[in-house]
Amino acid sequence: MSYLKNNGKMQTTLNLIKAQLQHLYSDAEIKAFGFLILESVCCLDKQAVLRDKDKQLSPNERFQIGEIIESLKKYRPIQYILGETEFYGLRFKVNENVLIPRPETEELVDLIQSDYRKSPLSVLDIGTGSGCIAIALAKNLPDASVYALDISEKALEIARQNAERNRVNVHFFQQDILADFPANSSGDLPEKWDIIVSNPPYVTPEEKRAMSKNVLDYEPHQALFAPQKKPLLFYERIADMGLNRLEESGALYFETSALYGKETVGMLREKGYRSVQLLQDISGKDRMIIARL
Ligand SMILES: C[S@@+](CC[C@H](N)C(=O)[O-])C[C@H]1O[C@@H](n2cnc3c(N)ncnc32)[C@H](O)[C@@H]1O
Repeated sequence: MSYLKNNGKMQTTLNLIKAQLQHLYSDAEIKAFGFLILESVCCLDKQAVLRDKDKQLSPNERFQIGEIIESLKKYRPIQYILGETEFYGLRFKVNENVLIPRPETEELVDLIQSDYRKSPLSVLDIGTGSGCIAIALAKNLPDASVYALDISEKALEIARQNAERNRVNVHFFQQDILADFPANSSGDLPEKWDIIVSNPPYVTPEEKRAMSKNVLDYEPHQALFAPQKKPLLFYERIADMGLNRLEESGALYFETSALYGKETVGMLREKGYRSVQLLQDISGKDRMIIARL
């Protein structure tokens, strides 16, 4: 492989990553990949990568970088290749069983944690995936009791590891939200929650055509897609649950599709939620909903 033949210095390796990927990704993406790869393979921080341009990489490090470049050429997401990502200032393990946490979702966490900074609370995260929302909330709301569910046992396995890694206590459990509401049969779940938060599957199959290969070919479809004929299926189900299982002063927090935000607001009002707010993300798209009874 050509990358094993260069002089193996840090700067040359960055140049080589660029040369190998320049027809496949934007300059900005390649620059970000270069740093992420060197930070991860050489266990350095970004400052060290910038500073030690003449550092000689070991044959093993160069081999690993070659393998990563080959995976990137197949559009495998860098987060899955490196096995981790950052969310809300915390490190999360990720693999193909969980959705890669997105920056928009950090905005949802930010909204909740600024609304509820001090109170003792019970929080339920529906469709937790990597556990990113539940764990970031548990870390930032020390008085909160945080519960999180997912239909996927494989996702829950990763979420549990992420809670341990970030030293927070989250009660994870397996549940198909379309089949049942969480039952309190064993008495270890709250009867009512102060906050129910969810970033549920909301992409319709029709949107597949506009999706990039690295999402469509690698991220779990169970995490992405809602039925074409019922794009709001998960939102409706969770809204029904909220009617019975939210505290009187409680709130639903949703991440929503920019395409169906307004429709979701209408649905929530019809179901009897009195205060429903639609909020935009940093790029101005309809993205978050807060609904109160
Ligand atoms: C869009 S992902 C969100 C993951 C994570 N909360 C995040 O924001 O990155 C949706 C999650 O819902 C889960 N899910 C899909 N269908 C479900 C169902 N019927 N019941 C419970 N969880 C479900 C998926 O496994 C996936 O982890």
